[in-house]
Amino acid sequence: MLMIVFTGLSGAGKSTLAIALQEKLAAVNYESAIIDGDVYRNTICKDLGFSEADRRENIRRLTNVAIEKKQAGIIPIIAAINPFDDLRRELCETNGAILIYIKCSLEKLIQRDTKGLYKKALLPDDAPEKIWNLTGVNDRYDVPSNAGLIIDTGVENMESSAEKLFSYVKSILDQQTC
Ligand code: ADX
Repeated sequence: MLMIVFTGLSGAGKSTLAIALQEKLAAVNYESAIIDGDVYRNTICKDLGFSEADRRENIRRLTNVAIEKKQAGIIPIIAAINPFDDLRRELCETNGAILIYIKCSLEKLIQRDTKGLYKKALLPDDAPEKIWNLTGVNDRYDVPSNAGLIIDTGVENMESSAEKLFSYVKSILDQQTC
C-alpha cells in the first residue's frame, strides 16, 4: 500500500488536489485519507505554531497518523507545506512514500491570496499585523529536487492537474499489484 506526500506553499492547491485525488481513487475502489495540515492544526496539532521546531513536530505527528492509515489498508495523502527537505526525505525513505510537489509561482500565490496571508507578509516591517514567518516569503521553503511528480497549478488548470496526479498515482498502484 502506498503513502502519498504533497509539498508546496500555502495556497498552491494541495487541499483541492488531495480532494480530487481522493475522489478519483474512490472511483477505482481505493480508500484514501487526507491528512491536511490546516485541518490537523485545529485538532492534534493545535498547540503548534510555525517555528522550525513546531513545523517539524507537526510533520512528525501527521506522519504518525499516515502510518496508522496505511496499516489499516487506507492510502494516506499528507497535504501540508512540509517545507524541510531532510524531513521529507526521511519521511519518504522510512515509509516508502512518494513525494509530489504542488508548485505555484509566488506571483500567482500573491494574486490568489485566498487567506490574505501573503498580503500580511508583504506589509512594511513596522506594520503591527505583519506576518514574519510565511513560508516562501520570509520563511524557509526547500524546493524539492527529488519529487516523483511536479504539478504546477499556476500554469495548469485544476482538472488537468488532478488528472495528471491520478494517472501518476494509479500507475504506481498498478505496479505494486503486479
Ligand atoms: S507546515 O509548515 O507545518 O507543513 P501546515 O501545512 O501544517 O504547515 O500549515 C500551513 C497552513 O497554516 C497554511 O496553509 C496557512 O493556512 C496557515 N498558516 C498560518 N501562518 C502561516 C505561516 N506563517 N506559514 C505558513 N502557513 C501559515
